[in-house]
Amino acid sequence: MSEPIGVAVIGAGMAGKAHMAAWRTAPTLFDPVLPPVRLVSVGDVYEPLAEQAARRFGYERHDTDWRAIAAADDIDVVSVVVANSLHREIVEGLLDAGKHVLCEKPLADSLEDARAMAAAADRAAERGIVARIGFTYRRAPGLAAIRELIGDGTLGRVLHLSGRYWTDYGSSPEVPFSWRYAGAPGTGALADVGSHLTYIAEFLAGDVAQVSGGLFATEITERPVAAGHALRGQAAAVTGETARVENDDYATFSARFGTGVGSLEVSRVAAGHPNGLVVEVSCENGAVRWDQERPSEIALALRRDGSRLGGFRQVVLGPDHPYVAGGMAIDAPGVGWGQNQMFEVQARAFLDEVAGVADPLPQNATFHDGVHNMEVLAAVAASAADGGRAVVLEARPTADTTVTVSA
Ligand SMILES: NC(=O)c1ccc[n+]([C@@H]2O[C@H](COP(=O)([O-])OP(=O)(O)OC[C@H]3O[C@@H](n4cnc5c(N)ncnc54)[C@H](O)[C@@H]3O)[C@@H](O)[C@H]2O)c1
Repeated sequence: MSEPIGVAVIGAGMAGKAHMAAWRTAPTLFDPVLPPVRLVSVGDVYEPLAEQAARRFGYERHDTDWRAIAAADDIDVVSVVVANSLHREIVEGLLDAGKHVLCEKPLADSLEDARAMAAAADRAAERGIVARIGFTYRRAPGLAAIRELIGDGTLGRVLHLSGRYWTDYGSSPEVPFSWRYAGAPGTGALADVGSHLTYIAEFLAGDVAQVSGGLFATEITERPVAAGHALRGQAAAVTGETARVENDDYATFSARFGTGVGSLEVSRVAAGHPNGLVVEVSCENGAVRWDQERPSEIALALRRDGSRLGGFRQVVLGPDHPYVAGGMAIDAPGVGWGQNQMFEVQARAFLDEVAGVADPLPQNATFHDGVHNMEVLAAVAASAADGGRAVVLEARPTADTTVTVSA
């Protein structure tokens, strides 16, 4: 493809803005030169936000109905960044219209919808259409570096993994009700941040084979109803009425992975932890820890260092680690890294695939990966509904049971 690639983003909320910025920057990352990228439209049902975001991020126009984006001849690539329950209708409509689609996680808010979307993606692939899901954290250099250290034998086989994703966006009872608080058990914190954490855990330790100890809690049971447009965690004018919170504020479970075991814990009511994602992996040859609040480093302990020099040491990420050399504008050691850059690398990988460039970045996760992710979350919900019993997952035909490849 040498014609310009026209891009649109549907959903101008928190993550939508990260997508808008990412499409701007993606062509500037890495060497292969992409065809020109045209920033065409921002779509949001709330017009003031769509209009303002289009101006801020330099998109040519805004739309209030996704169908206008599906019908537009000058748009090739679309990010879908709206509430999970809306993904299916919009994604299927876009794929039918021949658009390449990057859909946010989790793929949907029901397995039925997710499976239908994967089937639609398969049909679209026959027409050369790309459909991918944004499990953004695989682009974090620290997590990609850990995967390399496991896969190349430096750390060796995973023995156990501990992960937590604590957030505080719902920790105040004054935060209004929104789509995040509606749905069946498991569609709350588990789907929202647990989908990321589960994906990361499998990225490092292989597919989940069994979950147990599922436990959900809804600690803030009523929330005020917003009088207007409300975004994640933001205060908004309220009507004076309240709505019942339907899903989980907190979730935890244990898992048996392709290699090793582990426990995962997620929250949206963890005051003081706006984005507290921490993963620690204990392996045959040592251990490693990554903390989203210090994303430019990993803590590494290698048994071969011996007892006198052993223990955790800080490794600052730089050009020797994934996604830095040749990718960042300044790709020198010690320049740092931020969460918004993960969206940029994700967008770049998507454009590499659409444009068919030589030497592309590793592809984004597929809709089938998105279905698998939701199957794990559904198994956690089944475990939680039955006192924490063990639930076995069927192995995927292409099961990622050992981590042996690079990022
Ligand atoms: N990858 C990540 O790190 C990450 C981070 C946050 C959110 N997400 C995902 O992104 C998606 C959106 O989350 P968010 O936090 O940005 O939500 P949000 O509530 O902040 O924004 C959603 C926006 O969608 C708009 N909208 C609603 N219905 C629409 C429709 N039919 N057409 C167009 N726009 C519509 C709303 O007006 C709102 O502005 C979710 O799937 C979420 O899980 C991913």
